[in-house]
Amino acid sequence: MVSIAFAHHKGGTGKTTSCISISGYLALRGKKVLVIDLDPQANATSALGIDRNSMGESMYDVMIGDVKIDDAILETGVENIHLAPATLDLVGAESYLYKINNRISILKRGIESIRKYYDYILIDTPPGPGLFIINGVVASDYIIVTLDPSVFALEGIESLNTIFDDINESSGVKINPWLAILTRCNKGSLFARIRGKKDPVEGIRKGMKGFFDSVYTVPYGVEVYEAQLKGMPISHYKPKCKVGVAYKKIAEEVIKSCKNRKI
Ligand SMILES: Nc1ncnc2c1ncn2[C@@H]1O[C@H](COP(=O)(O)OP(=O)(O)OP(=O)(O)O)[C@@H](O)[C@H]1O
Ligand SMILES: [Mg+2]
Repeated sequence: MVSIAFAHHKGGTGKTTSCISISGYLALRGKKVLVIDLDPQANATSALGIDRNSMGESMYDVMIGDVKIDDAILETGVENIHLAPATLDLVGAESYLYKINNRISILKRGIESIRKYYDYILIDTPPGPGLFIINGVVASDYIIVTLDPSVFALEGIESLNTIFDDINESSGVKINPWLAILTRCNKGSLFARIRGKKDPVEGIRKGMKGFFDSVYTVPYGVEVYEAQLKGMPISHYKPKCKVGVAYKKIAEEVIKSCKNRKI
């Protein structure tokens, strides 16, 4: 089993979309996947078609130590994908975590007993530098960082690395940022290209190369919105759309890297 966290302290960079889309393509390849929603916004929960307002145990109960994660896991409408859901209550767990020892490794210890049931555990973390993102990355073998292709993307990587270094210094846990995904990338317009203008995303992509093993781009596509509205991964909604094809390629890289024991 390999655990992978989707992380960036900035909001709206495509963490949830990437987590759910990749989970879908892994599931289509017959892999057993658990998605852990560690974000009180519960977007991953909704994106898998689960109503965050009507459920029993959730990641809140797991993080405050009331139940084992086994008791919170649900089947979803998607074959091979299970979900440890979030609710808005999860906000309240953070103040509890600050009061206890080993606060950064609650999730890591929580998933030990269930690792054997899954090929992949994908963890969707919230924005901000709080204890949930820390628990997510500490519980993960590898980190996928998602970025919007803005001029601030490279600066964002530097501050994210500072957060990872701090975790490493205070806990000894080695953080492995492995793969970056630039989401919602639009190619420069046809006329800009005819006039010989360079694609601005290409510059950002090149800048990322020093930090990650691979850098992928995913185009903008309205199908992302439609799939989320339907509560299903894009792999199961419109697998052949451009966004879907881009995520399929990334899922293939995840599988290949695991097989070659690169990760
Ligand atoms: N490739 C894409 N094409 C079109 N829209 C996208 C794409 N990727 C993400 N989005 C949209 O961008 C918004 C932000 O994406 P998402 O929720 O995945 O980011 P996030 O990093 O998880 O956000 P947060 O930090 O709030 O958890 C969402 O409305 C999502 O539907
Ligand atoms: Mg999110």
